[in-house]
Amino acid sequence: MTGAGTAASAAPARATHSTLKPGIKKDLFGSLEDGTKVWRYTITNRSIRVRIITYGGIVQTIEVPDARGRMGNVALGFAGLGDYVAKNNPGPYFGALIGRYANRIAKGRFTLDGVTYQLPINNDPNSLHGGTNGFDTKVWTATPGSDHGDPSLRLDYTSPDKEMGYPGNLHATATYTITKDSIRIDYRATTDKKTIVNLTNHSYFNLAGEGTGTIYDHVLQLNAHRYTPVDSTLIPTGQLAPVAGTPLDFTKPTPIGDRIRDGHQQLVFGRGYDHNWIVDGSGLRQAARVSEPTSGRVLTMSSDQPGIQFYSGNFLDGTLYGTGGHQYRQGDGFALETQHFPDSPNHGNFPSTVLSPGQTYRTTTVYTFSAR
Ligand code: BGC
Repeated sequence: MTGAGTAASAAPARATHSTLKPGIKKDLFGSLEDGTKVWRYTITNRSIRVRIITYGGIVQTIEVPDARGRMGNVALGFAGLGDYVAKNNPGPYFGALIGRYANRIAKGRFTLDGVTYQLPINNDPNSLHGGTNGFDTKVWTATPGSDHGDPSLRLDYTSPDKEMGYPGNLHATATYTITKDSIRIDYRATTDKKTIVNLTNHSYFNLAGEGTGTIYDHVLQLNAHRYTPVDSTLIPTGQLAPVAGTPLDFTKPTPIGDRIRDGHQQLVFGRGYDHNWIVDGSGLRQAARVSEPTSGRVLTMSSDQPGIQFYSGNFLDGTLYGTGGHQYRQGDGFALETQHFPDSPNHGNFPSTVLSPGQTYRTTTVYTFSAR
């Protein structure tokens, strides 16, 4: 009976974000060869819909509105379980939870209390993202819930002592909470033996929509004045170097593609951006902001971690086809991985990644979407 009500009902029906109803839906995504069922949870809140599968805790899709209210999937991924099992590792690790140790460990080796541990070498000559069968390949136990009225999904996985060479039985949880416009991931882990932990999520984004081409026009800002330079195998040299005067300076918003072929030695080693930036400040703070000019979509990322890996999708080579059936080529998506620095166990000057019995590893990352 009010004017506002009349105006709203007169508006043409459109599938925009204002029509989304908060909730969680579960469906069978597929089964592994041994019969293990993999479930997919579709979690919706006011202006966001996210699909998460129990295999690898993978975020399959993220649908958010553009500046005109049109929903689009901004996450790279695969349509079916078969591709995730066969092509995500080794491969791009689309959307996956990464553990026990995100990023690289030199020669897959580290020492704790005088004992040297050897991890699988799956990224010659180093160990990458927890090894050949890391957390991205495990089926997690899912428990739907809610947090202050926002739908959430808790994922649990217990990694046995010596799995992938890491010491200690490690119990890990990652809880995805979908608020009205964001995805928050709360990670927790405990161990019964001194070990190392560094968890992250490996989502790739294209804010114009997955499968629409490169992300080189996306404008990136990183709140980081320093980074950790790497050698030719992408292992940190141990230096904490200023970004000033290099193509790694994103302290001011800059299109990703502007300097990516600049010839700087670091970009040659990475075939583009594939580096760890040292985020300014401490505590839960904004690390990155990315905007895409045509859709108007904006992603901001906050975390309490000391580092963030910005990876410009350099190793996508056109051999993979994504959720919408489009080919993914070099630079068609970017990843921002909140993390401790790569190879920390072998660098005494990097913040520690050691977890001891009795301690709880806790970290939070928030991805917030808007459009203007
Ligand atoms: C690494 C890249 C790697 C990609 C996919 C990123 O986190 O930094 O070097 O190619 O993951 O495996």
